[in-house]
Amino acid sequence: MDPRAGPVFLLILGVCVGLGSSQSYILNDKDGLGRVLDGIGGLSGGGATSRLLVNYAEPYRSQILDYLFKPNFGASLHILKVEIGGDAQTTDGTEPSHMHYENDENYFRGYEWWLMKEAKKRNPNITLIGLPWAFPGWVGHGKSWPYDYPDITAAYVVNWILGAKQYHDLDIQYVGIWNERNYDSKYIKQLLRYTLDKSGLEGVRIIASDNLWEPISLSLLLDPELSMAVDVIGAHYPGTTTVQDALKTQKKLWSSEDYSTFNNEVGGGCWARILNQNYINGLMTATISWNLVASYYGDLPFGRDGLMTAEEPWSGNYVVESPIWITAHTTQFTQPGWTYLQTVGHLEHGGSYVALTDRRGNLTVVIETMTHDHSVCIRPPLSPFNVSSQNATFQLKGSFAGIKQLQVWRSQFNFKTKKPSFFEELSPVKLTDGFFTLHLAEDEVYTLTTLTSGHKGVYPEPPQSAPFPKVYKEDFNVRNPAFSEAPDFADQTGVFEYFMNLTDPGPHVFTFRQVLTQRPVTWVADADQTISVIGDYRWQNLTLSCDVFMETLTTGGVFVAARVDKGGSPIRRAKGVFFWVFADGTYKVTNDLAGETVLAEGQSGTRAFGWHTLTLTVEGQYASGLLNGYPLWKKAVVLTPSRGWAAIGTRSFELAQFDNFKVAAQ
Ligand SMILES: *[C@@H]1O[C@H](CO)[C@@H](O)[C@H](O)[C@H]1NC(C)=O
Ligand SMILES: *[C@@H]1O[C@H](CO)[C@@H](O)[C@H](O)[C@H]1NC(C)=O
Ligand SMILES: *[C@@H]1O[C@H](CO)[C@@H](O)[C@H](O)[C@H]1NC(C)=O
Ligand SMILES: *[C@@H]1O[C@H](CO)[C@@H](O)[C@H](O)[C@H]1NC(C)=O
Ligand SMILES: *[C@@H]1O[C@H](CO)[C@@H](O)[C@H](O)[C@H]1NC(C)=O
Ligand SMILES: *[C@@H]1O[C@H](CO)[C@@H](O)[C@H](O)[C@H]1NC(C)=O
Repeated sequence: MDPRAGPVFLLILGVCVGLGSSQSYILNDKDGLGRVLDGIGGLSGGGATSRLLVNYAEPYRSQILDYLFKPNFGASLHILKVEIGGDAQTTDGTEPSHMHYENDENYFRGYEWWLMKEAKKRNPNITLIGLPWAFPGWVGHGKSWPYDYPDITAAYVVNWILGAKQYHDLDIQYVGIWNERNYDSKYIKQLLRYTLDKSGLEGVRIIASDNLWEPISLSLLLDPELSMAVDVIGAHYPGTTTVQDALKTQKKLWSSEDYSTFNNEVGGGCWARILNQNYINGLMTATISWNLVASYYGDLPFGRDGLMTAEEPWSGNYVVESPIWITAHTTQFTQPGWTYLQTVGHLEHGGSYVALTDRRGNLTVVIETMTHDHSVCIRPPLSPFNVSSQNATFQLKGSFAGIKQLQVWRSQFNFKTKKPSFFEELSPVKLTDGFFTLHLAEDEVYTLTTLTSGHKGVYPEPPQSAPFPKVYKEDFNVRNPAFSEAPDFADQTGVFEYFMNLTDPGPHVFTFRQVLTQRPVTWVADADQTISVIGDYRWQNLTLSCDVFMETLTTGGVFVAARVDKGGSPIRRAKGVFFWVFADGTYKVTNDLAGETVLAEGQSGTRAFGWHTLTLTVEGQYASGLLNGYPLWKKAVVLTPSRGWAAIGTRSFELAQFDNFKVAAQ
């Protein structure tokens, strides 16, 4: 669809009255207002994107949270959307479910509860949203589809919302269906809506379908009962535009997942354009960034696609990236409930402007003139507008005619000079008869506002960036009780949790356990094995050892691995050096997680329900392994991969424990 055609674009009322070298735009509320802003947000999950954040020491962890959530400080987000962990791989890892098994309920797993509470502490008004990507296997009765037993699926999702309230006093305001997968109308209206209402959650609103505008928009038009059940149409990466059917539904339209761009300056530019133009071109009243904060190993898929970067808990280093300040241009000077003016649109020489009001006399105008490389941005707007420097004169009319002065905040990307500046407060502009003129260069963002509360928060520089420590030990004995997972282990299939065996006489009372016993209703092609990676992707030569304990007779199996070259959605195809022992008394060394390329194999005498110590050494093109300190195999030839993470895991979805994990890398 041409973004300049169709009724929605009648909103472009920036009237050019040709004042010589200046174009003029009128901001007026006289003929009514536009839609109500629902907010700007970040998405934690989909999946495991905040995994490393929890392991930051103070004060750095709180500083990062302040840059994200604290009002009038940094991104000051209006919305936090989280994954409802479903035990399966959802892009950068797995997030644990609140119900691994049918009779299991635990609302203290993972880090999303903690994150929501930290966000709420800083901004009690923040809007909370939950969305499932995957479901535990029992929800689908072992099938890869969650709608065959829709009452079970609905109860499972509603339990999460009830648990949020009961255990954490968190009010989840919106819930989604199944991220970027098919929806089922019957599930939405008869079950999810019905189950929510029956559980006293009438106030929880439903977003559908976190995919494309269609077919959900047409479904809503054709099915009045479905339309009653759904409050928001959430589209992903809409490229700033919407479709006629979506507009006809008269529902709120959201870009419920967007951005997904490397967060250097160019990324911030993409985000600036999205935030304005999602409303101008597509009447979207909320935009949510995937992801909130890049807190996962940078070599996993989509490294640094967050509003800021916090991927080094071991050093404390984090980076406040440009999207944080671009977000601030809108979030610090509006709130959910503010209303867009109808007078929003594109600038004559490229770029765009929006204006919002609190309807009590306050006005905020955000202007962007992004030019640069559209190909970098995900789903850039259709037919990119060429941008050149321009003078723009704005005239305030209606309730705003009497405004005498506006605060001014500016970001300049300065791609040519490489000296960007972000979110700088300039001298206020004085208005004469409601007029003000801006000299707009290319690649700038301006906020002009009656609010004086804007603030560019700053903390002292965090510690220097440093690689993952070359010597690393984890005995799983010292635990942060707030979290179910051990620091720095990033589960890629399966879920690994702290475990306590009080009947163990020692030394294995406190261990780390893979807890899934069934393949989940997956979101991508999870491996058939489970695996948790850790360390530095650049590691080549190392010795790692770990105590292992199988809990499945005969068919059980566990491994330790080095040079694991893939995580995230492609995990099935991960290669590396995998040293397996099995409960049937054998061992194997394979070049891949799937176990297809065998480098060595033989008898080990290993069995279930006994502890064994595996030691794996990889140096150059050779690997060797010890069992309980004695050589078991040596000089296995490893041509590729040349580097990668360390890992632990199991042969299948089976219980198994790990203890005394140690790495010494060169
Ligand atoms: C929360 O919202 C209320 C009502 O809109 C407002 O008065 C209050 O200042 C807000 N609090 C914060 C921290 O933004
Ligand atoms: C603007 O917002 C401020 C802060 O919320 C408020 O005190 C003031 O009454 C509002 N209206 C005007 C016209 O400034
Ligand atoms: C934008 O610039 C390109 C190259 O300079 C040109 O080919 C294109 O026609 C221009 N587009 C518009 C809409 O002016
Ligand atoms: C903007 O206006 C100034 C005078 O205020 C003029 O010198 C300049 O050429 C104008 N720029 C453009 C791009 O029209
Ligand atoms: C707990 O420890 C006891 C004693 O060592 C052992 O027999 C049992 O298998 C262990 N259970 C689990 C689940 O690890
Ligand atoms: C790994 O070991 C090989 C063989 O000893 C050596 O050539 C290579 O430089 C080592 N790599 C690193 C990163 O130390």
